[in-house]
Amino acid sequence: MSNSEYYKDKICVVTGGNSGIGYALCEELLKRGADVYMLGRNPKKVADAAEQLSSYKDRIHTLIADVTNQKQVENAINDAVKEASRIDFLFNNAGIGGTLPYDNATLDDWKTIIDTNTWSVIYGVHTAVPIMLEQGSGHIINTSSVAGIVPFPFQGLYALTKFGVTGFTECLRYEYAEKGLHFSTICPGNIATPIFKKTIDGKEHEEAKIPEDAYPADKAAEYILDKVANKQGVIVVPEQPQTDLWKGYVLGDEKIEELLMQMAHDRRIAYEEKGTYF
Ligand SMILES: NC(=O)c1ccc[n+]([C@@H]2O[C@H](COP(=O)([O-])OP(=O)(O)OC[C@H]3O[C@@H](n4cnc5c(N)ncnc54)[C@H](OP(=O)(O)O)[C@@H]3O)[C@@H](O)[C@H]2O)c1
Repeated sequence: MSNSEYYKDKICVVTGGNSGIGYALCEELLKRGADVYMLGRNPKKVADAAEQLSSYKDRIHTLIADVTNQKQVENAINDAVKEASRIDFLFNNAGIGGTLPYDNATLDDWKTIIDTNTWSVIYGVHTAVPIMLEQGSGHIINTSSVAGIVPFPFQGLYALTKFGVTGFTECLRYEYAEKGLHFSTICPGNIATPIFKKTIDGKEHEEAKIPEDAYPADKAAEYILDKVANKQGVIVVPEQPQTDLWKGYVLGDEKIEELLMQMAHDRRIAYEEKGTYF
């Protein structure tokens, strides 16, 4: 079966589906013939994003939930399952960034980022696993980051949430393999999305720039879905140079050690001079 046919008629829920990587995943899944439940917290943003995909007619559906709220996540996934009678893929994709000096982080910042990036994934997994076990099949894809496998300086808060997601998802991948359930961890590098314009306090900064070398979200979604179809565990996108960076860090490569030290120095100077690292 080709990768395209693999998703045909499959029931997919994508959290954070109204923007960025989540939106690109929704669109690519629809192109590949899936039934997609786009989940987001802001009804207007979700309706507008779904409207852009209205050419897929009755295969695009919407769900409203704040992923930091366990009941709302549970109700939304259950609503999709009630309507579609099953769930084949759950993409726990919703998340926020967090690049800031540790010194500047308040306990509210910690709570927001852990609730949004980590508890959201736990809530999704907690709801979907019993349903998928009953079905005897299902695939949960949790979004981590390259910052969830490599420790980038000034991203301590974000790293805590994303290393947690990577470790959790990889453990479950082995734990449930004999039960017919699959797990994957998406580790994106810089992908061109609005995440770079948002700060941990929920504010949006139009003046903030998306890095020029950021990888296109639609290409990332194509790559991710090909790898998910192959049931790959950790999916690093784009594959290079991030995979070499990851290997170099794990193996203690001196060049990678120097690179991370230099990054810490450059970001520290940038924060001291401009109050921001970009
Ligand atoms: N872009 C990158 O370079 C990059 C790199 C590594 C990892 N990632 C990860 O990839 C995932 C997607 O990010 P993105 O780049 O596509 O960013 P994005 O364009 O800002 O999209 C994030 C999505 O998550 C939603 N969301 C945030 N908090 C939520 C909440 N409490 N409840 C429900 N939905 C919520 C957002 O909703 P609103 O539109 O209402 O804010 C939005 O739909 C995140 O987990 C992020 O950490 C991204």
